[in-house]
Amino acid sequence: MTIAVYGASGHTGKLILSDLRRRGVSPVLVGRDADRLRAAAAESGLPDAAIRVAPLDDRALADAFRDVDVVINAVAPFVEFGEPVLRAAITAGAHYVDISGEQAHVRRVFDAYAEPARQAGVTVVPMVNDGGFLGDLISSLTAARVERPEQVTLAHRITGGTGISRGSGRTAAANADAFASGGEIYTRGGWRTETPARTTKVTFPGDARPSEVVKFALTEVITVPRHVPADHVEGVADTEIATLFVNITPELAEALPEFPQDDPDNPDRFLVLADITGSGGAARGYVEGTNTYRFTAIAAAEAAVRLATDGAESGVLAPSQAFDPSRILESLAPHGISWSVQPIARSRSNGHQKTD
Ligand SMILES: NC(=O)c1ccc[n+]([C@@H]2O[C@H](COP(=O)([O-])OP(=O)(O)OC[C@H]3O[C@@H](n4cnc5c(N)ncnc54)[C@H](OP(=O)(O)O)[C@@H]3O)[C@@H](O)[C@H]2O)c1
Repeated sequence: MTIAVYGASGHTGKLILSDLRRRGVSPVLVGRDADRLRAAAAESGLPDAAIRVAPLDDRALADAFRDVDVVINAVAPFVEFGEPVLRAAITAGAHYVDISGEQAHVRRVFDAYAEPARQAGVTVVPMVNDGGFLGDLISSLTAARVERPEQVTLAHRITGGTGISRGSGRTAAANADAFASGGEIYTRGGWRTETPARTTKVTFPGDARPSEVVKFALTEVITVPRHVPADHVEGVADTEIATLFVNITPELAEALPEFPQDDPDNPDRFLVLADITGSGGAARGYVEGTNTYRFTAIAAAEAAVRLATDGAESGVLAPSQAFDPSRILESLAPHGISWSVQPIARSRSNGHQKTD
């Protein structure tokens, strides 16, 4: 199996290399800078791995992806640099996985590349990470417990940790408009930016009290309506993450550490939640885990290996369409995630919801 990693010299790129090595897969490192790629290979314990230098040029990239089964794209930001890598993967006949957390990028991938991917017979799965990927998978499992789902509320929270990488900071700055507006919500058959979120408070699992949440540009808002037949799908986040992303300027991004080190005494913890209500009941599903970048790398490697070995339908697919949600979550459980799906009893007194 041949897996290429574009952006292999980045923070998450290097973690992806390490995880592929753990699986016994020797990846092809692709990027714009030979010295940084060589350093990434050595640091990831892959000193003899193949290195192919390709700037963001369609022909150079397609040449670098010749004979490759799957491309993992770990560039940043995706709205600026993601598309040439995707186009070249399709041209080279390689399946494609990316780790983007950018709603506009994910929307563009579905809108512009579904037909080219189908025609080329390749599978494209964007947003394989600790956020949208898990939100999409848990929505699918939760929707299966609700008759006639009508509304899906997706919520993210991250606590602890040492902060975000420079690449994530640049990504937040490049998507400033989407983060400031809260991005798109799916309602009345389409995605709309002007629609406000209906949810203003969420009682997160384990909390005694509800937390304030705000509309947030979650990527799974783009994918969930493709497999859950709800009229309304919205994304919110706790105010801490939302404030962080809204306030990052290009200058602040450049001041962030390029490779933040995990603090074992204070690992970040992520929580991705789907509350689904319908005329036939309601359910809550959530996934929890630690170490966002390391988990993202493991999930991207898992998805790539699955596409290389089992394949999937061709075209652009949501994670729940490309993979069996329970099976892929089970295969990731040894890497620190746990999840739950439960029916919800609706509280009449305050309009909030609690699990049974
Ligand atoms: N839950 C989530 O949503 C989630 C989780 C994890 C990561 N992510 C996303 O994943 C992306 C990567 O994050 P990161 O921290 O790994 O970023 P990073 O360390 O900055 O890595 C970015 C990579 O992109 C390459 N690159 C940047 N500009 C390029 C250009 N013009 N031409 C060619 N290559 C270019 C860099 O190459 P050089 O080394 O040559 O500079 C580097 O290899 C970010 O968008 C981040 O938001 C999302």
